[in-house]
Amino acid sequence: MNYWAVVPAAGVGRRMGTEIPKQYLALEGRPVIDWTLEVLLASPRIQGVVVAVGAEDPFWGDTEHAGHPRVAVVPGGKERADSVLNALRHLETRAGGDDFVLVHDAARPCLRSDDLERLMDEASDEQGGLLAMPVRDTMKQADDQGRSERTLDRGRMWHAYTPQLFPLGSLRRALEGALAAGVVVTDEASAMEWTGHRPKLVEGHPDNLKITRPGDLELAAFHLINRRAEEGSSL
Ligand code: CTP
Ligand code: MG
Repeated sequence: MNYWAVVPAAGVGRRMGTEIPKQYLALEGRPVIDWTLEVLLASPRIQGVVVAVGAEDPFWGDTEHAGHPRVAVVPGGKERADSVLNALRHLETRAGGDDFVLVHDAARPCLRSDDLERLMDEASDEQGGLLAMPVRDTMKQADDQGRSERTLDRGRMWHAYTPQLFPLGSLRRALEGALAAGVVVTDEASAMEWTGHRPKLVEGHPDNLKITRPGDLELAAFHLINRRAEEGSSL
């Protein structure tokens, strides 16, 4: 099977509130996105990575992986789904429609290689799949006044992470269809669900966090340092 990766990296990081978009902030000595790309490029199964960057992004060129032979760049779009679509359309000129594509947020630098490989092992079919975590807390649904209206069935609720893995052609069609129909698409799985697919939820690890708000960068650094210590002690 052929695998490709798409990395949307064209956001401005509004919730983070930093001048530099979060995917370029320094994390343990290198930009966040370089950690992210290193994990994807380390997989021998992934043939190439397509990164979607903002139109006038002055930061990408200074990263470690700009110019890497297995990394291509396309312009991003208005929303995350538009950025992903640009990358998928580029891939369709190089890859087969039945090839698999892994879409992974630039802002998730702590992805574990074994979770990435397990996702490919367990979800490489027409339904596809995504890394996810069962929720821990009791989940409430709020009313308009911010009061708890109902308690949801926690046993069936998951946090959706990335990577999300789908056949290239069906993902491109699902995203185009969902966007044209005005469906809110916050991840690839939501577009695939809209076309009737049932992506497999593959349990990952909570350290695969998306850097979103101030404080998350420190948390990511904590996970990377811990992992380095674990790897060092097992050598
Ligand atoms: N992204 C993208 N194109 C967009 C918006 C987001 O490629 N038009 C990317 C981001 O760069 C990030 C990923 O999608 O790697 C996940 O999005 P999110 O965490 O929402 O990042 P931002 O949109 O940058 O952050 P915010 O929503 O706080 O502005
Ligand atoms: Mg966003």
